[in-house]
Amino acid sequence: MPGATEMPVATAMMICDTGFESFRSEIVGESAPIRQLFDTLERVAPLMSTVLIQGETGTGKELVARTIHQNSPRRGFPFVAFNAAAIPEGLVEAELFGHVKGAFTGAISDRIGRFEMANRGTLFIDEVSTMPAPLQAKLLRALQEREVERVGASRTIKIDTRVIAASNVDLLSLVKKGDFREDLYYRLNVVRVKLPALRERRLDIPVLVRHFLAQSFARNAVPPRPLSAAALDALVAYDWPGNIRQLENAVEHAVVMSGRSADIQASMLPDEVLGRLSMGTPAMTVPAEGLNFASFITGVERDLILQCLKRTGGNKRQAALLLQLSRTTLIDKLHRLGIGDAPAA
Ligand SMILES: Nc1ncnc2c1ncn2[C@@H]1O[C@H](COP(=O)(O)OP(=O)(O)OP(=O)(O)O)[C@@H](O)[C@H]1O
Ligand SMILES: [Mg+2]
Repeated sequence: MPGATEMPVATAMMICDTGFESFRSEIVGESAPIRQLFDTLERVAPLMSTVLIQGETGTGKELVARTIHQNSPRRGFPFVAFNAAAIPEGLVEAELFGHVKGAFTGAISDRIGRFEMANRGTLFIDEVSTMPAPLQAKLLRALQEREVERVGASRTIKIDTRVIAASNVDLLSLVKKGDFREDLYYRLNVVRVKLPALRERRLDIPVLVRHFLAQSFARNAVPPRPLSAAALDALVAYDWPGNIRQLENAVEHAVVMSGRSADIQASMLPDEVLGRLSMGTPAMTVPAEGLNFASFITGVERDLILQCLKRTGGNKRQAALLLQLSRTTLIDKLHRLGIGDAPAA
């Protein structure tokens, strides 16, 4: 049967009955943007509408797409992820739409594409901005007509696939430059979900850290230990260009580095989080995308102070001497930077 995968109708009729509590257990956060995200997801998940998820790398685009699928009546059917950027350009069409035997060299049998695999379920098209122009046209047709044509085939196949697309670049600016089809943009952008960068919702950092610490303790089968105030402070202060994925990895790094120590200390965090990578670099260069001057300087201050406190075993007078600051200036800075007790190690 060249058509889509057959699934029992009873499963297709299955209605989401778990409520939306599962959003809250998987997508961690309490900040205003995240509460707004929950509201949008509750409204959007049960529908058929196409969703466009935009956000920087590591902000949770795929997690959100899966969550939408899991909370939709489609959850008994496949969630199929597709990333055009990860596939050689010449293979994208056959991968997405399938092909018939003999359609091109190497097409030794009929093969269904991701669109058909996701029939009655959800197709997640990641990095949609990288779709080659001819494919953008074909994708638009598939969305509008609700049918696909396998490469080399002479007939079309009806599909019932919900599409969720994601992009880490602003698609509208690509449309304006003529690099992305405007009609496809509007067809994808029926509902838009904008995921904020982690530095725009620092309020969520402590709760995310707690979540990832618990996961990391369990995964590494190590006893749970508290995080020092200075470590949490450094985590909250950092700018997280890699967003939640980078935070997750930083927490894992610290847990692994903590070995048998009684708590998890700032010194166990990755170098970049502590700003150590930029230290000692004779010619500091501003990255192409620029930087937040105030938070960069705060990061440098924090790093220098933490280093000296560490070296002096937490003795503020000696640390102040090393930094050629008065003791009161150092204490003022500690307050301002929210550094409570000096790190023990
Ligand atoms: N709000 C959140 N709560 C808990 N974990 C999260 C949250 N957002 C993202 N994560 C986790 O962060 C990691 C990165 O998320 P995900 O892969 O969905 O990001 P992405 O936006 O698709 O990244 P990329 O653009 O690099 O593909 C995953 O391990 C995911 O589970
Ligand atoms: Mg992703």
